[in-house]
Amino acid sequence: MEKLIIHGGRRLEGRVKISGAKNAVLPIIAATLLGQDTVSLLDEVPALEDVTTITEVLNRLGVEAAFDAEKHQLRVDARRIGSCEAPYDLVRKMRASFLIMGPLLARCGKAKISLPGGCAIGTRPIDLHLKGFEALGAKIEIGHGFIEASAPEGLKGTRIYLDFPSVGATENILMAASMAEGQTILENPAQEPEIVDLANYLNVMGAKIRGAGTNVIKIDGAPKLVGAAAMTQGDIYVENAISEHLKPVIAKLKEAGVTIEEDVDGIRVRCDKKTKAVDIKTMPYPGFPTDMQAQFMAMLTISEGTGCVTETVFENRFMHVDELKRMGANIRIDGRTSVVEGVDKLTGCQVKATDLRAGAAMVLAGLVAEGETQVGYIHHIDRGYDDLVGKLVGLGADIQRVDR
Ligand code: EPZ
Repeated sequence: MEKLIIHGGRRLEGRVKISGAKNAVLPIIAATLLGQDTVSLLDEVPALEDVTTITEVLNRLGVEAAFDAEKHQLRVDARRIGSCEAPYDLVRKMRASFLIMGPLLARCGKAKISLPGGCAIGTRPIDLHLKGFEALGAKIEIGHGFIEASAPEGLKGTRIYLDFPSVGATENILMAASMAEGQTILENPAQEPEIVDLANYLNVMGAKIRGAGTNVIKIDGAPKLVGAAAMTQGDIYVENAISEHLKPVIAKLKEAGVTIEEDVDGIRVRCDKKTKAVDIKTMPYPGFPTDMQAQFMAMLTISEGTGCVTETVFENRFMHVDELKRMGANIRIDGRTSVVEGVDKLTGCQVKATDLRAGAAMVLAGLVAEGETQVGYIHHIDRGYDDLVGKLVGLGADIQRVDR
């Protein structure tokens, strides 16, 4: 089994260029299913396991999808869709495969997808996705581990209110409504940057979407969409980071005593003393992002003082706590809050990545821990971080990937 071996305690400094975001690129790839008449060409696609998986899903639908990981380019020819059924083996591997339901329903009037199931961080239901599809006129049937949606007469625009600003449900409904007859008004949608990215891409394909990134999105259905072309104590310049998308994270880092300088090309992050403990509470965008909770907790384990981490988005996203405690962290879980008391130092040992972001947190802990840290189950990390080892080595980290 492959592992990451990290020898901690080294100061990181230099310049690193970040890659495209997993959670922005996956819905855009699903949206290429809407492209009739012309081929879609996507650039700056990060080389991730999840990109490989969703490309495999498209090919199983009879679409021609080819990903060049070297060039970071994905070509999708969805002029013909051979099947509207996504198999269990792929949906089980990556719940984001469920994002093909909206485009298939819009394009073919039907979709049959295996139930995505939960995952390590929570049950992750899809009721809000289905509520949106039904509101647009689709008939939903669930049975034998599959969900079937059908709208033989096409979808009709309507007003939809989301009880929770679900990112996936917002994305699925945007894609379905983009070819519905008439206007759809989506209230209380997710406002994450990836929603804006998806809406921008759909508009380049010929959709008419306004208000993405706000609390009301208006979608005027188009009869046809066409394929389109569309992108971490040290002194680090993070190229391509967009500070607008990271406001709560930047605010909390500054509160912890980190020096942050933002410019048009990226963000410079400097810290030459122990950080101060801060409290964080995850919320839907524009609140503090749940996907940064584990990484921030890793920083808090050696901060000055006690910080409280409250997770309000997923019900079980504290699996990294036990792994951090193995390294000497002092953390007590109290319901949806983890109380993190800063310790002098962490010590390296064998730990595992329990999910994608927890994996990133264990790497960060290894970078500051005394001695050697071995991080196992790194397939989680490969799902969402493009060449994390290469980027950290470029910043002076002693980290390597071994197969043992
Ligand atoms: C997306 O997941 C991301 N995944 C997650 O990133 C991210 O943590 C999450 O949004 C929040 O930002 C992708 O984009 C592929 P949600 P998603 O629907 O769409 C409940 C990572 O580490 N809910 O906003 O599944 C749900 O149970 C991953 O990259 C319903 O109740 O998130 C959860 O508690 C992890 N019913 C909450 O909403 C529904 O129909 C947030 O879910 C849908 C969701």
